[in-house]
Amino acid sequence: MTTATSRTDWFTQARFGLFLHWGLYSIPARGEWVRHYEKIPLEAYQPFFEEWNPRRYDPKKWAALARQAGQKYAVMGAKHHEGFCMFDTQLTDYKCTNTPGGRDLAREYVEAFRAEGLRVGFYFSLIDWHHPDYPVDRLHPLRDDAAFKAKPRDFNRYLDFMHGQVRELLTNYGKIDIIWFDFSYDDMAGEKWRAAELVKMTRSLQSDIIMDNRLVAGHEDPSNAAAYGDFASPEQIIPPEGVVNARGEPQVWEACITMNKHWGYARDDHEFKSPQQIVHMLVECVSKGGNLLLNVGPTALGEFQPESIDRLAAIGAWLDRNGTSIYGCGNANLPKPEWGRYTRNGNMLYAHIFNKPAGPIALLGLQDKIRKARLLSDGSEVNMSRPWNAGKTNAEFLHLPCAQLPDELDTVVALELK
Ligand code: GLC
Repeated sequence: MTTATSRTDWFTQARFGLFLHWGLYSIPARGEWVRHYEKIPLEAYQPFFEEWNPRRYDPKKWAALARQAGQKYAVMGAKHHEGFCMFDTQLTDYKCTNTPGGRDLAREYVEAFRAEGLRVGFYFSLIDWHHPDYPVDRLHPLRDDAAFKAKPRDFNRYLDFMHGQVRELLTNYGKIDIIWFDFSYDDMAGEKWRAAELVKMTRSLQSDIIMDNRLVAGHEDPSNAAAYGDFASPEQIIPPEGVVNARGEPQVWEACITMNKHWGYARDDHEFKSPQQIVHMLVECVSKGGNLLLNVGPTALGEFQPESIDRLAAIGAWLDRNGTSIYGCGNANLPKPEWGRYTRNGNMLYAHIFNKPAGPIALLGLQDKIRKARLLSDGSEVNMSRPWNAGKTNAEFLHLPCAQLPDELDTVVALELK
């Protein structure tokens, strides 16, 4: 089911999106699983609800940052496992419009990102640690509270509520391009969620929408492309060989990856990937036929932290010059070269040079196959000629006679194939 369809056309063209993890958990600022890890009871979490007021939230700014970063779509959490709703649901009081902030954050997000020309998606947690009918299982914050655990619960009532919220999100916010369900585990998978019914409703409300594959178990295994949904959703990993189904056919996939080590805002986590690492990850995804959904965890006040802004800007500047080697591109079906990676679009092959070899750059197997080579960023000619001492190898050679590569993030040479 994750094979490319006309529904996913725009998505495989887009290649680069923004993931947004934002919720009450942005206040404790220790990641979105803080209630789970610290076994925080609802009463102790309640102050965050009572003070929630993202007065610096300006989604127009976020959308502009994403567009300038070269991202073509965004996926924002409408509700994470904590259960706090970032939209004006009628099905619970536990929502942003009941806090001092008062605003419908999801609506403002959709409007701002649309206005900036980006596609919009909602992340929606299947798990809800706030709902009284959600089972107190091994992931629940109150898993060690025997009295709480013993309370009667009606899981079908929870499912009606959860389906109802999906209905609201897909009815009240105009066209939604992506619904990103998260996640299945243990026996909480597939029909336990009444998945077939949920998918049917989703498609009936939004005929063009695409969805990830996390309504089923096994989604965490990138090779399990049998899982249904429109795309596979490997997390914090770029699948070594891309994603193919049992018959070896390439599947649609999107790797979601954090900039530092957390999804939700984590004040004390300053271990950020460099712009170069992130560009290389994006190139790697595209070279294997996938997308990159890069995460930002905004602060409780509603801002991206400077490290995130800097990285988005650097990637955007690179994409501005080199985007034709990313958008609409995919697997070149060539072995990975020693110096970097290839992406391809039709008869254009893009050599992404990450490491400068001592001498000329060998394009193995491509001898006499290339009509011309140009530096993508400025259109200048890159000389091709066979070094006198190349031996018998069936390679073409590029000459970049400089000590350092022209672009330290990734120097792209556009190769027109014969
Ligand atoms: C996991 C986590 C979650 C995060 C998501 C992103 O399933 O539960 O916190 O939102 O991955 O892929």
